[in-house]
Amino acid sequence: MIFSGSSHPILGYEIAEHANIVLGKRNLHLFPDGEIFVEILEHIQGRDIFLFQSLGENPNFYLMETLIILDALKRGAAASITVVFSYYAYARQDRMNKPGTPITAKLLADLLVSAGATQLIALDLHSESIEGFFDIPVYHITSYPLLIRYCETLVSLKNTAVVGPDKGAVKVASAFAKKLGVPLALIDKERIDSFKVEMKMLIGDVRGKTVILTDDICSTGGTLVTAAKICEELGAKRILATVSHGLFIEDALDKIENSPIELIIVTNSVPMSEKIANHPKVRLISVASLLGEVIKKNKY
Ligand code: R5P
Repeated sequence: MIFSGSSHPILGYEIAEHANIVLGKRNLHLFPDGEIFVEILEHIQGRDIFLFQSLGENPNFYLMETLIILDALKRGAAASITVVFSYYAYARQDRMNKPGTPITAKLLADLLVSAGATQLIALDLHSESIEGFFDIPVYHITSYPLLIRYCETLVSLKNTAVVGPDKGAVKVASAFAKKLGVPLALIDKERIDSFKVEMKMLIGDVRGKTVILTDDICSTGGTLVTAAKICEELGAKRILATVSHGLFIEDALDKIENSPIELIIVTNSVPMSEKIANHPKVRLISVASLLGEVIKKNKY
């Protein structure tokens, strides 16, 4: 059986459709004081359950909702409960950057397991170290083949380079470059605060080339836009960007609109407003069939 939280109803519905399973009925509502109430309206005893949720928007609320649904499923004696996250929040807090800071990605793992999760399927985790935070099976699924395939339809690979906008993006960018059979270039990024990044230098050559900037998350847009400007200054001819998760916080889309980025290719792992989804610089790639197939085959 599949249940969906309330974070991304359209994707939840589409995933269930691709998996060929009718979404389980549940009642979710808020008490006047803001507390969440959940009631599972199906017989779940002894059943294998998938619970879909995206923690891209309002992560604190939807995490709590996930935990409460898990508790209801566990108490209903489900045989197994696989949490399916199209976006795992707090993933960037995967290590102690300095004394006195938390490892919130690990805390989230502990919360999910103690609430009843017995498996996790996660799409494009920010860092693979998160897999090790769980003592239950974790199936890390990637949308990159979908994004790569789409890029192949847009550019002539003869004169293209993939650019990783920071050290964290090296692995993804190099996988993109390898798959596309094009050179890789890298930018050195330093984060000043959560809204500001500074970029220093570029290793590799982008002059006269089409550039595909590749990152896992676009949040404020600062990283991609700054990287695009550097590529433009260094003579890039066209600049495209791909990310798995488009959070597009605050004026991120305006920044992209006014930047040298021609197009940003992004999955629908996080719900998006009509304005973003229909923006001429945005191409949405659906991960519904990817996640639906994974659930249907129950093979990872
Ligand atoms: C950071 O490690 C991530 O991979 C992204 O580079 C970052 O989240 C992007 O954030 P922003 O769009 O705010 O620059």
